[in-house]
Amino acid sequence: MSFTAPIQLPGLTLDPLWHRRSVFYQVMVRSFVDSNGDGNGDLAGLISRLDYLQWLGVDALWIPPFFTSPLRDGGYDVADYKSILPEFGTLDEFRDLVTKAHERNMRVIIDLPLNHTSDQHEWFQQSRTDPDGPYGDFYVWSDSDEKYPNIRIIFTDYEESNWAFDSERRQFYFHRFFSHQPDLNFDNPAVHDAVFDIVRFWLDLGVDGFRLDAIPYLYESDEGNGEGEPKTHEFLKKLRAMVDRDYPGRIMIAEANQWPREVAAFLGTEEEPECHMAFDFPVMPRIFYSLRSQNAKELVQVLSETTDIPEGAGWGVFLRNHDELTLEMVSEEYRQAMYGWYAYDPRMRVNVGIRRRLAPLLDNSRDELELAHALLFSLPGSPFIYYGDEIGMGDNIWLDDRDASRTPMQWTPDRNAGFSTADPGKLYLPVVQSLVYNYTQTNVESQLAQSRSLLHWVRNVIHVRKAHPVFGLGSIHVLETSHESVLAFVRSYEGAGTQFGDPAEDVLCVFSFAHNPISVTIRADDLAGASLVDLFGGSEFPAFDDSGSLTLTLGTQSFFWLHIGSH
Ligand code: GLC
Ligand code: CA
Repeated sequence: MSFTAPIQLPGLTLDPLWHRRSVFYQVMVRSFVDSNGDGNGDLAGLISRLDYLQWLGVDALWIPPFFTSPLRDGGYDVADYKSILPEFGTLDEFRDLVTKAHERNMRVIIDLPLNHTSDQHEWFQQSRTDPDGPYGDFYVWSDSDEKYPNIRIIFTDYEESNWAFDSERRQFYFHRFFSHQPDLNFDNPAVHDAVFDIVRFWLDLGVDGFRLDAIPYLYESDEGNGEGEPKTHEFLKKLRAMVDRDYPGRIMIAEANQWPREVAAFLGTEEEPECHMAFDFPVMPRIFYSLRSQNAKELVQVLSETTDIPEGAGWGVFLRNHDELTLEMVSEEYRQAMYGWYAYDPRMRVNVGIRRRLAPLLDNSRDELELAHALLFSLPGSPFIYYGDEIGMGDNIWLDDRDASRTPMQWTPDRNAGFSTADPGKLYLPVVQSLVYNYTQTNVESQLAQSRSLLHWVRNVIHVRKAHPVFGLGSIHVLETSHESVLAFVRSYEGAGTQFGDPAEDVLCVFSFAHNPISVTIRADDLAGASLVDLFGGSEFPAFDDSGSLTLTLGTQSFFWLHIGSH
């Protein structure tokens, strides 16, 4: 099958690669805008700020779960996949959100935790009380809690075992995450049917795709470690085939926190595709490592490793999200170094990671924030912004677990940061009032009023990126440099004819992680004589010389994006 042929629907031709051109924005309904003053953000509130997101340049929203849930894991503990938690709104409001987003050319991706449900889900309640009934086999039950000893514990700060005893059924059930999140039994075909039914329900409602939460963990086996088991990949192929057949143009995004080759496996192959995108978990921690080690070596290596994926598939690049900055996929030595740099206070740690937001991680350094965003917007893949990071919002490590970085969006210097008119004590979480990130200083309104604010800078870089499809669609070639602090690569794109009007282009990206100004020589034989023009201001740079070498000077933690001209 071809990934790049235009998708034909009655009266409509769709770009099959829209996800690779898009800038994504992760926004939690609860955290964005409270429209009715009850202290919780809601769908109507989110709808009211679509104009802001459009202004910023956002092409697609990723909305974490908003389904009926006891909210013991931020909604990733679903009690009913087909209804919306009343405090967030109604199905009609959700339909309205999809319509209004689509009117603005913005897509809507929702989050589906399929590995597990809440223990409050009707399926689980029936499973524990009626083992022989229709839901008896919906979960992973066992008489022993010793099964699957190879399977690691993920929430190491909260759980001691992946098994919990149910006093009603008098058996143990398996849970990969919190003990109140029993794993669904994917060996049961009825579970597949139930999951397909949920997927169809939301696709019929008009969503443009899914983030597949915790997707490596669907199946467990005696031999394996319960991460990306062969049957999990079989299931994804089956799901993808259904989506391609019945809902062409809608996408699946894998949340697979795994080593590079394992993450790539979730994209499948040319013949048997799985997800359209996977979050680039290997690259993310290495960006943070490079910023402090002043050494680009790790990034160079990982960028060379992860690029072999099916045409049409892409990476989701991110700096932060609603979870801890996970350090599971780095070596012990690097992990300790990163804890030392970024989580010097033990309160900043959770599980195997760091529960802080981007700006505090980077000590609110404008140079570092710009450098990190320049990577986010030019590495292979589509960028995902975490709400609030565009204004450099702070966090609150005195809150529990990952709530540290899920506080209300800061819109204005007014009461509750303009998030809500509720009594401040009633908010689902308090707004950030710390010295440096206090909402009276860090908020959208005041950054809109300053032309040099981070918000305006981020918006500008988004628009520059969008004017150059090479960033979303092009290949990457990492170059040799004379300085260990420098990462240099060329993004190249041959253009796609006239169908979607994309021009061919080559861009040279150079990043210096050094904490002082440096000079660097970059080598690329095939670029001998090539001229260079800055993508931001249009000024001409020195060209590569006839032997394919280029010497540049870079200020502290700075970068260049340079259009490569004729040679
Ligand atoms: C995913 C989510 C995380 C959640 C976990 C269990 O990793 O990103 O927030 O706690 O799944 O559902
Ligand atoms: Ca509300």
